[in-house]
Amino acid sequence: MSHQTVIVLDFGGQYNQLIARRVRECGVYCEVKPYTTPLEQLKAMEPIGIIFTGGPNSVYDEKAPHVDPAIFELGVPVLGICYGCQLMAHTLGGQVTAAQEDTAREYGKTETYYDTACKIFKGLPEKGISWMSHGDYMAKVPEGFALTAHTDACPNVAIADEKRGFYGVQYHPEVNHTEHGTDMIRNFLYEVCGAAGDWTMGDYKNTAIREIREKVGDGKVLLALSGGVDSSVAAALLAEAVGKQLTCVFVDHGLMRLNEGDEVEAAFARWDINFVRVDAEARFLLKLAGEAEPERKRKIIGEEFIRVFEEEAKKIGRVDYLVQGTIYPDVIESGAGDAAVIKSHHNVGGLPDYVDFKEIIEPLRLLFKDEVRQLGRELGLPEYLVMRQPFPGPGLAIRVIGDLTKEKLDTLREADAIYREEIAAAGEDKNINQYFAVLTNTRSVGVMGDGRTYDYTLALRAVTTSDFMTADWARIPYDVLDRISTRIVNEVKGINRIVYDITSKPPATIEWE
Ligand code: XMP
Repeated sequence: MSHQTVIVLDFGGQYNQLIARRVRECGVYCEVKPYTTPLEQLKAMEPIGIIFTGGPNSVYDEKAPHVDPAIFELGVPVLGICYGCQLMAHTLGGQVTAAQEDTAREYGKTETYYDTACKIFKGLPEKGISWMSHGDYMAKVPEGFALTAHTDACPNVAIADEKRGFYGVQYHPEVNHTEHGTDMIRNFLYEVCGAAGDWTMGDYKNTAIREIREKVGDGKVLLALSGGVDSSVAAALLAEAVGKQLTCVFVDHGLMRLNEGDEVEAAFARWDINFVRVDAEARFLLKLAGEAEPERKRKIIGEEFIRVFEEEAKKIGRVDYLVQGTIYPDVIESGAGDAAVIKSHHNVGGLPDYVDFKEIIEPLRLLFKDEVRQLGRELGLPEYLVMRQPFPGPGLAIRVIGDLTKEKLDTLREADAIYREEIAAAGEDKNINQYFAVLTNTRSVGVMGDGRTYDYTLALRAVTTSDFMTADWARIPYDVLDRISTRIVNEVKGINRIVYDITSKPPATIEWE
């Protein structure tokens, strides 16, 4: 089945994939194309609408990207965002200049007034915050255009030629800071382009499966499954696409939470693939024995993981494709430059340099986390896998402070399971982005029955965050904390004291090691 298509014409802005994501969210299929794509090719896609993205340039720069003016003769509606808006104004005979300091140059959240008679603001409030990030100013708008939004500093933050279906906004409707931004994009799609909303994640799944089959042919595919959301969804997609040609290697390092290894294995039982679960607990514990320093623990685990994976890969022989569960935010973050290393994150996805293979497949590369989850559901993965909170590659090894023993790991597993159970039972899991227990290396005196105890202190950690770069400690209700504390101390041998971590990140990190 073919879908109505919207083209996102990419001029190099930072939010281009976010625009695409908003369009998909509105139930419309879209493709991001570089601005250099020949007009004939764009025309052949028979788009119902085109969105020009933002970009770092000024339209009057010598090297600034331009479009073939004939794009405005296609009879297809256009929405220009930021640079895209200025480019449209410039190309259609308006005038764009550098804004004078303090006048029309705007950055950040800005109170904006909208003309709700304009189709893209239809049904929305007349006033709201928009996210601005532009240094240029439309000194003169092209003929046929009306001004449809303004701020206190700038009279023309949105323009429209409703007859021809051309709209431009100086701010970014695709970012969350712009109130009703997605509604504006939805209005463009439905009110202006006449979208039918004929696209779903199910369609995305089918398209992805078809493309993977075409690419892989009868080749062999290898995937390192960590049990996290991304690698699990990638695995399910590949399993659906190429079945037996896929080998999933799941290195069970014995540092998972309670029953987690079995859950991961069970989730993949429905596919006829080569599923290899390597029970490597003993190996990992042996290597880690006596090691208390967090960075060295991470290193040992990272290296041992590679060893085990390598051995398994050798058994399979030559593979053609290696799959990685890279998602879009990883793509952005990995370009973030050289920030100081606070912790060496060991990510079981990144293994390309020691396995012999032809090419990497990254089937989730363009998706955001919640889209990945949605795709996982489409593929029939169980909810506990799809909604799994982030779990560090080194697992519980960095949640048992100091040196590790199997006994300590088992104690932590038991306590952590009770903690998670009670948080979910109280419905608090909806408000908290990550929560887990930490077995501190501290013992203290307690009294149980008539006897003295000298046992471990368990710390509970729970944070709210949107990006995991900064985080706030979660305000769990006292009665829930009370229940958790009582149950753990009563049910788990070796723990006689519970503390709750009330530090944010920064200055603390989310994990303790
Ligand atoms: P921190 O402790 O640095 O954690 O505030 C931020 C987020 O990253 C997770 N984390 C890891 N994830 N490998 C991973 O894949 C790691 O080594 C690792 N260390 C921390 C942590 O759980 C939190 O979500």
